[in-house]
Amino acid sequence: MSIQWFPGHMTRARRQIEEKLKLIDVVIELLDARVPASSRNPMVHEIVGNKPRLVLLNKSDLADPSATQQWVAQLAAEDIRVLPIDAASGTGVRDILPRCRELMEPKFEAWRRKGMAPRSIRTLIVGIPNVGKSTLINKLAGRHVAATGDRPGITKGQQWIKVGKEMDLLDTPGILWPKFEDTSVGYKLAATGAIRDEILNSEDVAFDVTKRLIRLYPNVFEDRYGIDRLPEDVDNPQEVVEVLEAIGRRRGCVVSGGRVNLEKASDAFLHDLRSGKLGRITLELP
Ligand code: G4P
Repeated sequence: MSIQWFPGHMTRARRQIEEKLKLIDVVIELLDARVPASSRNPMVHEIVGNKPRLVLLNKSDLADPSATQQWVAQLAAEDIRVLPIDAASGTGVRDILPRCRELMEPKFEAWRRKGMAPRSIRTLIVGIPNVGKSTLINKLAGRHVAATGDRPGITKGQQWIKVGKEMDLLDTPGILWPKFEDTSVGYKLAATGAIRDEILNSEDVAFDVTKRLIRLYPNVFEDRYGIDRLPEDVDNPQEVVEVLEAIGRRRGCVVSGGRVNLEKASDAFLHDLRSGKLGRITLELP
């Protein structure tokens, strides 16, 4: 579902998260492992404040494992607890509770000192649209939890989901907005499917991602499309368009007169990227 984020939506989304945070011990922040920086809300630190936080790099099944390792190292160096997961298949999901327990240790200790019995850890999942919040909630719940509208402002009564004996999870995630200040962030989010194609033109997105992949993963063009000559200069738009045209020819996006339909070629290329057919790809490094 696409959202047009206006300042009013952001204020409302922020207020809703702040309201939920009052109930929460540990915040679980979901990022997309293919674009960990671009999928991070610019104000998340401010919104979450000093609450213990666990960062999950989701969709790690689609991301480049060595890049994911670099991101884990980078975030750990910033003293951020981080775990790569794949919420769809469940890989890594069972490590969430032990990490939350570690983060809760100071609070548990304080409770012990006061003679209080420890209770379940209360958690909230936050993240931008499409990062996998509902998928993770369902995985942790072990069942399908009714989806709420992915729009700030639409709420329903929230309930706790029991995750084993030690964790309670709010059934409605905190929806954050993505960064908007930088067009390259927009293209990266669109390339991974976080921003719908109606918002950014798919030819522009495909053009941007082609340039990025020529630099980061030049082999995918030969491996997937048999393109063995890449532009020397990715800043020459014509040469980049020629790569997209070659992809279009491979993917059968040719119209009468042998011309390549660039829009179709772009859609096909983005589909291949998003579905993992180009291999495991990360679009930004620390
Ligand atoms: P949200 O609540 O944060 O908005 O995200 P949601 O769980 O709806 O997930 C968005 C899409 O991402 C879903 O695809 C979901 O299956 C997919 N997804 C979530 N986690 C993972 C993961 O770890 N790995 C992979 N490969 N995919 C994941 P979808 O239902 O097909 O939606 P769409 O692609 O039609 O948007």
